[in-house]
This record gives sequence, structure tokens and C-alpha cells, in this order.
Amino acid sequence: MSSGEEKLLKISKIKEGTVIDHIPAGKALKVLSVLRIDRGCNHTVSIGINIKSKKLNHKDVVKIESRFLEKNELDKISLVAPDATISIIRDYEIYEKFRVELPDSVVGIINCNNQNCITNSGEPVPPEFKVKSKKPLVLTCVYCERNMGEGEVHSLL
Ligand code: CTP
Ligand code: ZN
Repeated sequence: MSSGEEKLLKISKIKEGTVIDHIPAGKALKVLSVLRIDRGCNHTVSIGINIKSKKLNHKDVVKIESRFLEKNELDKISLVAPDATISIIRDYEIYEKFRVELPDSVVGIINCNNQNCITNSGEPVPPEFKVKSKKPLVLTCVYCERNMGEGEVHSLL
């Protein structure tokens, strides 16, 4: 490691767990909230906000020791941080590394914000959205066709 890189290293490496990297600057707290870490958690969590990055101008990073994420959690992260990289760390080494992927349809994660939508009528119909646009994020309800932008989606997560 060159001395330049050492100066950039802001949070320590972890022994075991998950690193969520390349989160848009300012979105780390939203990532913690979709993982319910803001509601209490017994894992050690490190958070880097507004870290200088080569790829993005600034980024956030979240490292969760001894926790591995489920598909449903990765789908939620993709709605907040579509370019996030997930590194699974075992014994200090990168065991697996991949990008999150925004699914083509988002099922059962957020509710439709149209109160007249069938998914809000008490019928057993799970909310479902098609991803109309990835950047900027736009989801369309498959039942009432209401479009929701990034701000609305994030406020419902
Ligand atoms: N990491 C960690 N603990 C380890 C190993 C890696 O916290 N034991 C973190 C690194 O700090 C980095 C991420 O896992 O945030 C990915 O590691 P690596 O691929 O080595 O970093 P970069 O090459 O900088 O990744 P990228 O090119 O994706 O930015
Ligand atoms: Zn709807």
C-alpha cells in the first residue's frame, strides 16, 4: 500500500462480515434504516460518510461485522444505492464481491402511495412495482400505474 492510500484509509478493515461500499454520499443512514440497524443491533457497525473516492466524488461506506445480508435486504439497498458494491469478508479476505442489482420488479418491499390502489384496500394483494427508470429512479405500480420517484420511494422504505 502506498503512503497516499494509507492517508485515504478512514475506517478499519473488518475480520468477518459485510462491506457496503460506493453508497451515494449522504445515503449511509438510509441504508442503516432499510437494514433496521437504526432500531437496535448487536453487531459492530462502522459508518463512513462523505469519504473521498476514486470512482465517485464522495461516497458513504457501511461495514457490518458478523452479518451477511439476504436477497430481500440487497434489493432494498439497490433502491437506495443502485451502484453499491457488496464485499463479503471472511478472515480479513474478500470472499465474494458483487454489485447490487435493481430488480425488474419490486414486490412486497414498499406500499403504493395511492390510497385508492387495490393494494391499499385490505385485499390480499401484495404491492408490486415495475422499474420504469433506473436513473433517476421511477417505479410504476402494476395495479394503479401511479409513478413514484426516488424521494417518494426512499420515504416509504
Ligand atoms: N474491506 C474491509 N475489510 C477487509 C477487506 C476489505 O473492510 N478485511 C473493505 C475495503 O475497505 C473496501 C471494500 O471492503 O471498502 C472492498 O475492498 P477492496 O476490493 O480491497 O477495495 P477497493 O479495491 O478499493 O474496492 P473498489 O475498487 O471496489 O473501490
Ligand atoms: Zn398502486
